[in-house]
Amino acid sequence: MSGASEASPQDVPAIAPAQAGCELYAVVGNPIAHSKSPAIHSRFAEQTGERIEYRRLLAPIDAFEPTVRAFVAAGGRGLNVTVPFKLEAYALADRLSPRAAAAGAVNTLRFDADGIYGDNTDGVGLVSDIETNLKVGLSGASILLLGAGGAARGAILPMLERGPRLLTIVNRTAEKAQGLLRQFEQAARETGCVLSGGSPSAIEPVSYDVVVNATAGSLAAAVPECDDRAFGTGTLAYDMMYGAQPTVFMRHAQALGARVSDGLGMLVEQAAESFWVWRGVRPASGSVLAELRSLLAASA
Ligand code: ATR
Repeated sequence: MSGASEASPQDVPAIAPAQAGCELYAVVGNPIAHSKSPAIHSRFAEQTGERIEYRRLLAPIDAFEPTVRAFVAAGGRGLNVTVPFKLEAYALADRLSPRAAAAGAVNTLRFDADGIYGDNTDGVGLVSDIETNLKVGLSGASILLLGAGGAARGAILPMLERGPRLLTIVNRTAEKAQGLLRQFEQAARETGCVLSGGSPSAIEPVSYDVVVNATAGSLAAAVPECDDRAFGTGTLAYDMMYGAQPTVFMRHAQALGARVSDGLGMLVEQAAESFWVWRGVRPASGSVLAELRSLLAASA
């Protein structure tokens, strides 16, 4: 790590130890006030009887690494990492899970006696939401992935591990999608999946079983370029974003006959997987997702 350790010590937040009998966890990001992770993990802890204290941790933009070190010095056992620090967390880890190595980004850190372990639970969170909550199997499915940034890259290996028949990856900037096609060529071959894609014109003129919007388009109310024929009545159109209202991508896909979902379930499922990575205990995510969903609806 280079620039990240240049912040002066006074920039690093003071971190109090956990209350007696609890182990300390947090979500670190900048900004962080909006994060739903403390609510999710507190419910997981209540449900499983795990004695954890889970906080929000605001790291200065130029002081991610010293903030993490201060957290560890205060007894911290694990962190969720969010925007904009997932690449720095990847660089900081001493050991990486295969899915974090493939994603090139880390959203879960665990502080072990032998160093810092980095994992990425975002992609498996997406897959769990699609398969377990939405009941759409990916084995043998055709999947269209829109986008080629960090969110898209993190989803590819967990999706390939489910054995889809076809995975098409397209992006507004085609070279980035082509880079991902090269990176995952071998993994796709090993799972018997046909990989295609590049620019949006490479979308097959058929309806896909699953279309995942991993672009940042929904933040700007923009529907990424996509052939309308990709959406049919048998399609699940999934937006990784979520909000009180359906995203423009969801409305577009619904108008074309598709079933739609936002990414709230992915948020809860990636948290459940992080909880497992830290505690070795798997919380039941369904009730937590239902509760978050009604809170979100009430805020509309
Ligand atoms: P993240 O970590 O959320 O994936 P990112 O790495 O900045 O963020 O990637 C953003 C993705 O959204 C990219 O695939 C980007 O396309 P480009 O590579 O062409 O920039 C895509 N994206 C953002 N806004 C978009 C829009 N309005 N239409 C289509 N794609 C968009």
